[in-house]
Amino acid sequence: MVFADGSAKIKVMPKEKKLIVGNWKMNPTSNREAKQIFMVIRKAGSTLRNVQTVVCPPFLYIESLRHLLTGHRVVLGAQDMFWKEEGSYTGEISSKMLAESGVRHVILGHSERRALGETNEEVNRKVKACFKYNITPILCIGESTRDNERNYLNFIREELEESLAGLPKTAIQKVIIAYEPIWAVGKEAKREATPEESQEMIIFIKKILSDFFGVKAIEGLQTLYGGSVNPKNAGEFLKDGGVDGLLVGRDSLDPKRFSLILRAAEEL
Ligand code: PGA
Repeated sequence: MVFADGSAKIKVMPKEKKLIVGNWKMNPTSNREAKQIFMVIRKAGSTLRNVQTVVCPPFLYIESLRHLLTGHRVVLGAQDMFWKEEGSYTGEISSKMLAESGVRHVILGHSERRALGETNEEVNRKVKACFKYNITPILCIGESTRDNERNYLNFIREELEESLAGLPKTAIQKVIIAYEPIWAVGKEAKREATPEESQEMIIFIKKILSDFFGVKAIEGLQTLYGGSVNPKNAGEFLKDGGVDGLLVGRDSLDPKRFSLILRAAEEL
């Protein structure tokens, strides 16, 4: 993808560590199992120097897994939050509560939440609500099909524009952007994406964000790729996908496979 203006100027600082995020979604169904899976991941992740591991379990398990944390190489994240701090919002969890529970990352705007009706405007409010309590939003964006290039690029542009509207320049560095093409996510995935497809889209995303926020503001921007990441393709996405880390769904619940992904990231 070639841009006539400016994209060559986009400089992105190399990150010290690869960020590997596990999204457990609505799994497993017992606290006991959650602990078992987490212990194996903790063991694999806690010795790695070049990898930061973030496990995002269902809210209910955060408190008990928190007691198993032993250092900063493996930490806990959340899968969603609400934009209000406290009050009459049945069923919701706030950034203040997450911070209280030691959580420092939250996945926002995941395609499975968007499929249930979450809008860019709601995602935008959630992103903005993160900063007061120092929670890092992992903002998921991704197109559902790749039929027509102009359409899907416009879709991505709109998702970014609306989800990040009104964000101050200084805040964009604190947001992690996860590119997750919906057609490559989950059991229903049509096919795996290629590292080249990821890289192209990451360049496009950085171009859009540099137009919004300025080239300088996005120098430290961190990006992830997500969608059918497995031990076989993890290294390839990290090497050639233009990203600083990975967002892993299914394989983050299989501690052996997740450990192999962590190892692939460590060995790059
Ligand atoms: P998957 O899910 O790895 O199972 O495709 C990724 C995600 O939904 O974040």
